[in-house]
Amino acid sequence: MCVEASHKVFPEWQSLQASKVKSLHRTAFHFQPPKNWINDPNAPMYYNGIYHLFYQYNPYGSTWGNIVWAHSISTDMINWTPLDPAIYPSKPFDVNGTWSGSATILPGNKPVIVYTGVDGQNRQVQNIAFPKNLSDPFLREWVKPDYNPVIVADNGINASQFRDPTTAWLGQDGHWRFLVGTRRKHRGMVLLYKSKDFKYWWKVQHPLHSAAGTGMWECPDFYPVALEGEFGLETSVNDYGVKFVLKVSLDLTRYEYYTVGRYFEDQNRYVPDITSVDNGMGLRYDYGNFYASKTFFDYGKSRRILWGWANESDTADNDVSKGWAGIQTIPRKVWLDKSGKQLLQWPIKEINSLRGSDVHLRSVVLAKGGLVEVRPITAAQADVEVTFLIPNLHKAQAFDPSWVDPQQLCGQMGASVQGGIGPFGLLTLASKNLEEYTSVFFRVFRGIYKKHVVLMCSDQSRSSLRPEVYKPSFGGFVDLDLTDGVISLRSLIDHSAVESFGAGGKTCITSRVYPTLATNEDAHLFAFNNGTEAVTILKLSAWNMNKPRIN
Ligand code: FRU
Repeated sequence: MCVEASHKVFPEWQSLQASKVKSLHRTAFHFQPPKNWINDPNAPMYYNGIYHLFYQYNPYGSTWGNIVWAHSISTDMINWTPLDPAIYPSKPFDVNGTWSGSATILPGNKPVIVYTGVDGQNRQVQNIAFPKNLSDPFLREWVKPDYNPVIVADNGINASQFRDPTTAWLGQDGHWRFLVGTRRKHRGMVLLYKSKDFKYWWKVQHPLHSAAGTGMWECPDFYPVALEGEFGLETSVNDYGVKFVLKVSLDLTRYEYYTVGRYFEDQNRYVPDITSVDNGMGLRYDYGNFYASKTFFDYGKSRRILWGWANESDTADNDVSKGWAGIQTIPRKVWLDKSGKQLLQWPIKEINSLRGSDVHLRSVVLAKGGLVEVRPITAAQADVEVTFLIPNLHKAQAFDPSWVDPQQLCGQMGASVQGGIGPFGLLTLASKNLEEYTSVFFRVFRGIYKKHVVLMCSDQSRSSLRPEVYKPSFGGFVDLDLTDGVISLRSLIDHSAVESFGAGGKTCITSRVYPTLATNEDAHLFAFNNGTEAVTILKLSAWNMNKPRIN
């Protein structure tokens, strides 16, 4: 049981190599290997001018199992070159698994990886690995010292729920620290470990943080963000000009949440701000198909970059016949919003280098029921940015304060349910006669305390004529001051992925969809309004996206 982590295991499929990889629905500019299963991004780092991305990979099949750390390198995070797996089961302390972990750059410019190994007794332990040869610019080979594991579950820790170490940071006292995710009964938590030399580690008595009822915390991430500006901070920075972010991935729900708060290093405690909801109803990087994410500090461009795993919404037997499963989302820059209450995210600017021919619309009024096709464009592989103006904000319908769950709201009020202001937005991956589309849209309500409540949805319910795929309607609220009546949306559309950024990256939603008609040249893109009130497209720009070299 313990070697399953949280993934479904299909013993009959996990080592069944696909005879042929199906290209339909494969993405063009998202990170994926040529075939087989992937999950979590691991140890992303920037080292001597090169970006490294490792990831959980099954070399033998397209469901979870046989996990190794696959490794790719890049100079721009857009074009990627594959290398041989960097870490794979080879020692008593990881014979049954080489699971997720993180990288740290030690003084003297020496990278180290800390990862979870599953040992011969199926216990999750924490191991370290170093590059074999620092003069190899690609850091191809990694060695695991014999003194591993560096951490085992002590009494009171459930060794089958003890994994995914974070990037380490250096405290004022000169000690290194990192976190490991675990749970005690239903309480999710992150344990704090310390070391003087990165070799001998001890556990701080109490967890750095925990939350009742949240279950196992996988893939924690903990880092400082600047109170002002968009630049990122090295993970060890901790002064008056920063707040901290703690993100956890909830095994129970398969969603993540994060809080913004303060880190009291001398007390070994993290305290979320009162404005951050500290449970599964809290803020998410992404309200869609996005899990096991991890950030890193990009020394090259002084920014913090976020990677996340977007699994398939397809059935496992379809994944097997496709011969592949899972992509990584487009790397995003993350920084703290001016309000100090949430993060903002934006696709790294390098992605713009893939933009090809473009189309633009300006000042187009979308009356009630309005629909405009954006053309000519390769709508299956596109980047679209649009700014809407809502002239009659006072016509917004009242918001019912009992509506607390945005995903449920999006499920009840899809794109075809007429509202007052909205739904308006985009129909992506749409077939010509709209038998299929993935709608990404907003609805604006009149709130009681706040002036307006903005809901953003990425609705998969009409995304495919195939009945068996998972077609939720994802949603998140957008904390936006709408006094100027302007709201923006960007969607990166890539065959089976639609990654959307509402209001400059305040609310982001990723959908994985499998159209049967709206594929390749037969995909269309529309802007629509199904509210009774008109909205205006102030500006819309869409680009065909070129295909980079990925693996
Ligand atoms: C998250 C996760 C991690 C684990 C890894 C195993 O998706 O379950 O907790 O380390 O995947 O592949």
